[in-house]
Amino acid sequence: MRQMLEPKEGRSNAGRMADMFARIAGRYDVLNHGLSAGMDILWRARLVRSLAAGSARKILDLAAGTMDVSLALRKKYPFAAIVSLDVCRPMLLRGVAKAAAACGLSRRTPFFLPVQADALTLPLKSESVDRIAVAFGIRNMNPRSEVFAEALRVLRPGGRLCVLEFGSAQRPVCFGLYNLYLSHILPRIGKLVSAEGAAYEYLAQTIKNFPLPAVLDQELAKAGFFKVRHEALTGGIVYLHIADKSA
Ligand SMILES: C[S@@+](CC[C@H](N)C(=O)[O-])C[C@H]1O[C@@H](n2cnc3c(N)ncnc32)[C@H](O)[C@@H]1O
Repeated sequence: MRQMLEPKEGRSNAGRMADMFARIAGRYDVLNHGLSAGMDILWRARLVRSLAAGSARKILDLAAGTMDVSLALRKKYPFAAIVSLDVCRPMLLRGVAKAAAACGLSRRTPFFLPVQADALTLPLKSESVDRIAVAFGIRNMNPRSEVFAEALRVLRPGGRLCVLEFGSAQRPVCFGLYNLYLSHILPRIGKLVSAEGAAYEYLAQTIKNFPLPAVLDQELAKAGFFKVRHEALTGGIVYLHIADKSA
């Protein structure tokens, strides 16, 4: 695994995120699928389709975590090279093991390039990537404007960024039931199952504080993306944002 970790101290919170995800990496997949009743798999599939990456040579899975998106990308776009980038090494190591098992290869699978790095300082050449997917990662990154600027820099002209993220819980979702779930049920389940209740409280808090989808669209447009649009998935629990780089 290439390690290119140069967090921008004082501005990026990448170091703190790496520590937090390292603590829950072992249970991440089980909790992820369990807490979303398996819907996360459908949401990621929608993200992968939206990339429309049929002729892509290189796709970046940003905040790849345990590499579920990378694996889905591999399946849908078998001819593209996939860079799986994340700041948290234990998350990526689980992903590499999954990729090796799924592809029936040794751990040194040639299909994925796992890279440990901060999304704010991507170790990639300008205009070297055709598509970028970010699933449930943007919420954890700060400042977002710098992440979007980096994404725009590494994308080739005509490239596309797709961001999958929980919708803001600043307003009631599914008649307020989802907000109740976030505030009271999710942290308790997290505590019971992983002994890391704080991490799940943090998760709920970041969803509550996340901007409304139209505001995120504005941030993407301000960063220089065009044709920015979004669609609600599962009644607004999750949003998919699609943003293109001009040709
Ligand atoms: C909720 S997980 C999502 C993982 C995966 N994309 C998925 O769909 O399951 C968020 C991931 O973002 C990563 N992350 C947070 N801040 C980051 C940063 N600044 N640069 C790179 N990765 C970051 C964390 O390490 C974690 O693996």
